[in-house]
Amino acid sequence: MSERASWGSKLGLILATAGNAVGLGNILRFPSKAALYGGGAFMVPYFIALLLMGFPLMIIEWVIGRYAGKHGHGSMTGILGLFFNHASWARILGSIGVAIPLLICMYYIYIESWTMGFAFLSLFSQMPKPVITADAHEAVKPYVSFFKEYTKPSILAYFFLVLTIAINWFILQKGVRRGIEIIAKIGMPTIILLGIFLGLICISANNWKGFEGLKFIYNLNFSKITDPVVWVEASGQIFFTLSLGMGAIAVYASYVRPQEDVVKAGVYTVSINEFIEIIIGASIAIPAAFAMFSGIAIPELAKEGTFRLGFMTMPAVLMNLPFGWFVSFVWFMLLFLAALTSSLALIQPLIALFEDEMKWEHTKAVTVSMILVTIGAHLSAFIPNFIDELDFWAGCFMLLLFGLVEIVVFVWIFGINNFYKELTQNTTLRLPKIVVWITAIIPPIFIFLILYFWVIKDF
Ligand code: PHE
Repeated sequence: MSERASWGSKLGLILATAGNAVGLGNILRFPSKAALYGGGAFMVPYFIALLLMGFPLMIIEWVIGRYAGKHGHGSMTGILGLFFNHASWARILGSIGVAIPLLICMYYIYIESWTMGFAFLSLFSQMPKPVITADAHEAVKPYVSFFKEYTKPSILAYFFLVLTIAINWFILQKGVRRGIEIIAKIGMPTIILLGIFLGLICISANNWKGFEGLKFIYNLNFSKITDPVVWVEASGQIFFTLSLGMGAIAVYASYVRPQEDVVKAGVYTVSINEFIEIIIGASIAIPAAFAMFSGIAIPELAKEGTFRLGFMTMPAVLMNLPFGWFVSFVWFMLLFLAALTSSLALIQPLIALFEDEMKWEHTKAVTVSMILVTIGAHLSAFIPNFIDELDFWAGCFMLLLFGLVEIVVFVWIFGINNFYKELTQNTTLRLPKIVVWITAIIPPIFIFLILYFWVIKDF
């Protein structure tokens, strides 16, 4: 057997996983969801879900990923197989797990291609000129029509889709260490720098009028606490943004060296992701849009679809700034980089399945995976509502369900003692055993209750 791939360095591993988690979920999906479900009212279940489900599951996926990697498995098919003596039912269940990131990637990569398209359209002054008006609806109108024209889809949109697919293909082809890791090492620091740059510009340009937006997000309140839809959406957002419930973290963890401190790595992943979600997603995008539109257009436009808000409001905001074309270019480049390091992570589980379980060679595994993604991207481009339906079922509902499976298998069936032994191996953060008990009990009950109330709400 040829040797399995591995990360080149600790830093590379952390940046790759941060790149995995930080993506369109942080910068586009999160503000849309927060706007749609009441700002501060959404943030309460959001933070609870982060603490009670996101954090524990992140650590679980890291620990189990390292464990599975030692046995030559990385995809959920192989990992569940490993726990059940490679019984065929377990491998089928695991393959459903591998299907989730693939389904997500089918629309994710299409949206990724919009970000590149919009970056270049900004750079070459092809975006609509800003309308000078105090009326928010009038100001945003040209950008709404422009976006709708672009995504009809147009030849231009198609060109950028093909280019995006080709870039992903090229990087994945280079492998874990020479492809994904290198892109993450370039991409993550760039994202952070560009984020700071944009933050400063937005703050100075809107004279703190964005404060209204901050109040909208951080005015935590309990008005939606009994609404199961908000709970499903808020916890779904936690799973989506942290890349949990589909084996996308576990597969990256399977490429670590056995002596790696995975508990620390998990803590880093959550911290970096939440930092960017809260800083760029909540504290730049929403306040910037609020400063300009006094909030009117935001919840309304958010109804257009989860990922679309940022392509209509943000260009309107940014193009109104001095050197708007350049600021808009920087913003969409930041989005593209964030999306790219995530789409690679969405495809890797499938590649791992082909390589580890079917023993295909790398080029064949990458090529077949990319063909599937390409077919899916076409469905997203041509079938109306495909993106939003898939985003709910694969990008929210199935994540919760599969997250539940993961906890049951990796903690209960693997055994509290075995799990604890793996957890405390090679780490300086030695958690007490009670933490494992809490993890084994609280998150599954929570997920179960959320899904239960969500299902029965219509009866
Ligand atoms: N976490 C990514 C985001 O926020 C999405 C993603 C999910 C990426 C699963 C990889 C795997 O955009």
